[in-house]
Amino acid sequence: MKLAMASCAKIQDIDPQPAWPLIHAERPDALLLLGDNIYLDRNDHHDPFELTQALDALYERQFAEPGFSALLQDLRGRGAPVMAIYDDHDFLGDNRYGADGPQALRDAARDAFIRAFRPTQTDDEVYRIERIGPLDLIVVDARYHRRSLAGSRDDPDAILGAPQWAWLEGQVAKSNAPYLAVASSSTFHAFGDESWELCRPAFDRRVTLLRDRPGARVLSGDAHRNAVYDDSGVIEIVSSAVARRSLVFKVLRSNYGILSFDDEGLRVQLHSLKVSSRFDFRIERSHWTLP
Ligand SMILES: [Fe+2]
Repeated sequence: MKLAMASCAKIQDIDPQPAWPLIHAERPDALLLLGDNIYLDRNDHHDPFELTQALDALYERQFAEPGFSALLQDLRGRGAPVMAIYDDHDFLGDNRYGADGPQALRDAARDAFIRAFRPTQTDDEVYRIERIGPLDLIVVDARYHRRSLAGSRDDPDAILGAPQWAWLEGQVAKSNAPYLAVASSSTFHAFGDESWELCRPAFDRRVTLLRDRPGARVLSGDAHRNAVYDDSGVIEIVSSAVARRSLVFKVLRSNYGILSFDDEGLRVQLHSLKVSSRFDFRIERSHWTLP
């Protein structure tokens, strides 16, 4: 089973986006989009109607990008899952959190996402779990229920909110797939100003949940680089900047990840035009650590 992962695509800057045909050529069995799948031009939206218009227009542009469109069409034609979630730039804007503002605003952002990606779900929430071959893939919503760091740093329910935490812990407890991945937009280990590690009780709670579960790991985006971590005892694989330019020199980034699962373990390939962002290694089930 082959899972492709990607995040951070800015259609205003890069159109067409050369990474998608490369991902398509891998013939993945599933696609995980980890957020910042579009970029709002403004970070100060307060009018739900204006926000809806801005998000819908950007989703329309991204879904019309030929490589992205062809990949989605192929996946859907084969019945292959597309698991997507938003981060800040495809929600309310840079480093903004849903629970800090009015309900109507975050509902507008979530509704736009649902219209764009049509996730399978039974209620308004967009966090979910899907069994894909040997993998239970959980996608959490780390934006809608989140509060600013100042208001939540010491809260064990931070980032996800109490009901989603209970759901996540329940899903992990009953998962019996050989592999388990919990995907969220912002990075788990400390990177930048939005990592889970900055909310220590929530970070520790997720470590406790996953550290002793064989075959478990965390997948994330947002960081504009590929990276791997295992500092906490939980393996994290980051792939970000599928269609972005570097900050200073405006060099094209086409980063994406391919995770190939077999009975013995998992091959992790993180592709990048930048040499220091390339990875290709295996994690064996019998020895569940980074090489
Ligand atoms: Fe982000």
